[in-house]
Amino acid sequence: MADLTTEFLGIRSPNPFWLASAPPTDKEYNVRRAFEAGWGGVVWKTLGSEGPPVVNVNGPRYGAIWGADRRLLGLNNIELITDRDLYTNLEEITRVKRDYPDRAVIVSIMVPCEEEAWKAILPLVEETGADGIELNFGCPHGMAERGMGSAVGQVPEYIRMVAQWCKMYYSKPVIVKLTPNITDIRYPARAAFAGGADAVSLINTINSITSVNLDAMCPEPMIDGKGSHGGYCGPAVKPIALNMVAEIARDPETAGKPISGIGGITTWRDAAEFMALGAGNVQVCTAAMTYGFKVVQEMISGLSQWMDEKGYESTADFIGMAAPRVSDWQHLNLNYVTKAEIDQEACIKCGRCYAACEDTSHQAIDMSEDRVFSVKDEDCVACNLCVNVCPVEGCITMRQLEEGEVDPRTGKVVGPYANWTTHPNNPGAVAAE
Ligand SMILES: Cc1cc2nc3c(=O)[nH]c(=O)nc-3n(C[C@H](O)[C@H](O)[C@H](O)COP(=O)(O)O)c2cc1C
Ligand code: SF4
Ligand code: SF4
Repeated sequence: MADLTTEFLGIRSPNPFWLASAPPTDKEYNVRRAFEAGWGGVVWKTLGSEGPPVVNVNGPRYGAIWGADRRLLGLNNIELITDRDLYTNLEEITRVKRDYPDRAVIVSIMVPCEEEAWKAILPLVEETGADGIELNFGCPHGMAERGMGSAVGQVPEYIRMVAQWCKMYYSKPVIVKLTPNITDIRYPARAAFAGGADAVSLINTINSITSVNLDAMCPEPMIDGKGSHGGYCGPAVKPIALNMVAEIARDPETAGKPISGIGGITTWRDAAEFMALGAGNVQVCTAAMTYGFKVVQEMISGLSQWMDEKGYESTADFIGMAAPRVSDWQHLNLNYVTKAEIDQEACIKCGRCYAACEDTSHQAIDMSEDRVFSVKDEDCVACNLCVNVCPVEGCITMRQLEEGEVDPRTGKVVGPYANWTTHPNNPGAVAAE
């Protein structure tokens, strides 16, 4: 059976599934139950400086987006870092780590962007015996207005500076958690590693307003007639997170550096996708908040079964395997020609493919009087829209034309691999050897 044991920055955990810093990891009671359910590690809910803790709103703090079946697709929150006393948290972390030496316990920290503030908290965290720290440069709301969270994460020089302080005043691994609220994720990632960070984790939440109440004319969640932007997470953010992980994994300046993948992970497959793109482990928040701690059991059994099927003995066997296949557009093969094909047996004659192609694509689907839908190869550009709108999975597939076949749309013979960099229509084309 596949071995799910993971070693991330030298920190061993029985599986690659960690709970992300958030309400599931806010206290000892939760974390003990999470470990009993099987989680491999936790990143404790973000700690702030000594002194009076932050204060959360006392009204609703979540907004949401649902699918047609009311499955939660996206969650938005206006919660702050922990509102519990620093020393209570530190004592609880110490006890939990002592009782679960085989699990990863990472402490998330967010204090002002001043050397003294980091110098003060790091020895206290070191004393807990936790395995490492994660710097929260991500929260887009509440803390950012106070010069912390994403306000730091959006300035690579600050990231580098704080990472350096942490490496100076703390002896164990330092993970920098990145905000996605930035144009190019490679810059903060490079800054983190330049400052000496051992890993980056991403993504934190995306700045968002999930909905507007049209009776109250106010963004939701509403607090006494006003709303605030919050942090978006859950299944809806996974594509954004995957791309950001891939960007870092294939950037020559950061390729091969440790990444902890976060964002919308709900199933073992989501986790495997992050890992295939280069994440050494994954962190989960919304799925645990939606389905409870036991959701990890399906993740563990699913990943283990898939690895057995594929012949992977350990997670290291497939981590990063998909990263070299992430390419810039200009290197994609323009001689890869496909045509849509409809399986008439599976078709339920709903007509969605016809409407989509006729109105918004290339008028490449015919509809007969008795509603038989068929693709006109001479018009099909292979955009894949019909595949995506068809309600019957596998009913429309894309057939690849062989090299040497004639594409009925262009009248040209399908040639060997050739991309935009050498295409005659490209004014900047470099002549092929
Ligand atoms: C209610 C809530 C509170 C959160 N608090 C923190 C926090 O204190 N520190 C932090 O680094 N991230 C925090 N996050 C972000 C999560 O750790 C995680 O990065 C994000 O939710 C994306 O993962 P997911 O899609 O699995 O939820 C919070 C998320 C939620 C939903
Ligand atoms: S792949 Fe695109 S162009 Fe071809 S039939 Fe489908 S929707 Fe039309
Ligand atoms: S969308 Fe799919 S099921 Fe509906 S008509 Fe087209 S091929 Fe048939």
